[in-house]
Amino acid sequence: MEIVRVKTVSPYDVLIGNDLTAEAVSRVSRSCKKAVLLWDEAVYSGYVAELGNALEKDGKEVMAISLEGGENAKTIESYAKITKIICEFNLTRSDMIFGIGGGTVMDLAGFIASTYKRGVELVQMPTTLLAACDASVGGKTALNLGEEKNIIGSFYQPSMVVIDTRFIDALSDEVFSEGCAEIIKTGILGDASMIDMLEARPLLENRSDSVYLSQIIKRCIEIKAGIVQSDERDNGPRNILNLGHTLGHAIEAESNYKIHHGQAVAMGLVLITRISENKGIAETGMLGRLINILTSHGLEWRCPYNINVLAGHVERDKKVRGGNLTLIIPEKFGFCVFLKVKVSEIRKWLTE
Ligand SMILES: NC(=O)c1ccc[n+]([C@@H]2O[C@H](COP(=O)([O-])OP(=O)(O)OC[C@H]3O[C@@H](n4cnc5c(N)ncnc54)[C@H](O)[C@@H]3O)[C@@H](O)[C@H]2O)c1
Repeated sequence: MEIVRVKTVSPYDVLIGNDLTAEAVSRVSRSCKKAVLLWDEAVYSGYVAELGNALEKDGKEVMAISLEGGENAKTIESYAKITKIICEFNLTRSDMIFGIGGGTVMDLAGFIASTYKRGVELVQMPTTLLAACDASVGGKTALNLGEEKNIIGSFYQPSMVVIDTRFIDALSDEVFSEGCAEIIKTGILGDASMIDMLEARPLLENRSDSVYLSQIIKRCIEIKAGIVQSDERDNGPRNILNLGHTLGHAIEAESNYKIHHGQAVAMGLVLITRISENKGIAETGMLGRLINILTSHGLEWRCPYNINVLAGHVERDKKVRGGNLTLIIPEKFGFCVFLKVKVSEIRKWLTE
């Protein structure tokens, strides 16, 4: 088992390994008497039952609530419905919620845990590669409101993150690839050697190599943890994690969420790198290399929408502050620059 310590204001461990049920249960605090398992019905129910049984054997009362994963899980309606069930179970502030699922379940479970009785302990158990490498760590929680993605949310760090790779082994190649998009993003913004590694040994075709998989997951978490620790509440340096996301979120919204998050991020990375190369910011050849890496990870890189259409979404981005939006521009693998652009000039900047 590998452990990464995330040194936020309330620090926590991220455990990475295979078959971590017993380890996770042994780390649950003694004061926890009840546990809610909020789980994506797409994951193998046997592992969820195994966790529930182990918690019960440890003296906890357990309630499992299954839900359908995907963006529809992150709605006000789903939040209200699940919170009501948790209320009826009378979960107290010393008890615990386990989020078991992909990034959508991490976002929902995190938001419920941060608001129910003004905060109960949260254990995140990511079951997609994307959630393992990104969404489970860092403490951002979110709900969507209609087309407005992640417009409601809070900062709320979990008490522990448990990445049991048995869940990830069960993913389809398509969902696995979506996680590769966030991994590639992390390499572009923080570790050129990871890009070299992914180029030489694409993770998608080597996904059964558990040592390699754990090594990549661990590296992504170390990079994200380092950034989050320096700016927990996203007032500056943490913006870098938004690489490929400003356009990615616009693509997701324009597709009415038919294009999934990871796939949209892959397209967003290509668009921003192309713009950067055209403007002479990114070093020549970066775009071609990026396209090859995305392709070898099963990701579509061609965006079906015109940049002018996407610009309309970007102008309404929730990260606009004081009439400006900070764009993250790749310069070379492992290095990006921050560029503050006036909202009134963003369309011109993206399209000219
Ligand atoms: N909070 C953050 O820091 C952060 C960071 C990145 C992304 N996100 C959010 O994460 C979401 C994307 O996450 P995602 O790609 O994991 O999406 P997801 O949660 O929708 O999962 C993708 C699909 O995989 C299924 N699934 C999950 N685990 C499975 C398993 N083990 N076996 C089989 N199927 C499984 C789900 O039911 C879903 O259909 C987006 O909403 C995005 O905004 C949040």
